[in-house]
Amino acid sequence: MPRSAAPDRPAANGTWQDDIDRILITEEQIARRIRELARDINRDFARRDTVVIGVLTGTVMFLADLIRNLDLPLRLDFVGVSSYGADTTSGGLTLTKSTRLDVRGRDVLVVDDILDTGKTLDHVVTLLRQFKPRRLRTCVLLDKKARRQVKIRVDYTGFQIHDEFVVGYGLDFAERYRNLPFIAALKSEVFTAPEPHTSS
Ligand code: IMP
Ligand code: MG
Repeated sequence: MPRSAAPDRPAANGTWQDDIDRILITEEQIARRIRELARDINRDFARRDTVVIGVLTGTVMFLADLIRNLDLPLRLDFVGVSSYGADTTSGGLTLTKSTRLDVRGRDVLVVDDILDTGKTLDHVVTLLRQFKPRRLRTCVLLDKKARRQVKIRVDYTGFQIHDEFVVGYGLDFAERYRNLPFIAALKSEVFTAPEPHTSS
């Protein structure tokens, strides 16, 4: 994975640059890979009435950039699954939001930010299959294969990454860093630091 120095832009909130260990995937690399993924999806879903379902919340940036490259008559929906608390250890799964659109007989593309143990995507896919879509495919930006616990097929993968906790481009640590435009690794001390006080 290519490495680059911290960007020479001003910090968005005055602190995140100090927290970043290194950038793993740059904005440009993400944009290029998304265009490639979109080309494959456009080809495979051509002229199909497609429902794209994003898994909240980490997919926000990926989904926005992906669907603007999709030349399909698509509709957009979201499902909410909470699998992590304010730390990096896997917890139980709770459905925080279910789908709105009818997917029966439709072509469905489920989009998630990162495939880690695989439990989240497996949960969502199992749930959606009950509604009998014509076809269901999965797309993830990042795949941490080394951590997989559940066997799951992914049809479109952006990048394979090592077993390391990453943030940015929608991905969070304790709900922070989602607004970073790139994928980065945090300094180890960030994981052990107490929550900063935001008011006096
Ligand atoms: P899984 O159910 O273990 O596959 O976990 C998937 C979910 O865990 C993702 O949708 C993320 O929200 C979260 N997650 C897993 N690894 C990371 C990471 O490295 N950074 C941020 N979130 C992560
Ligand atoms: Mg998360």
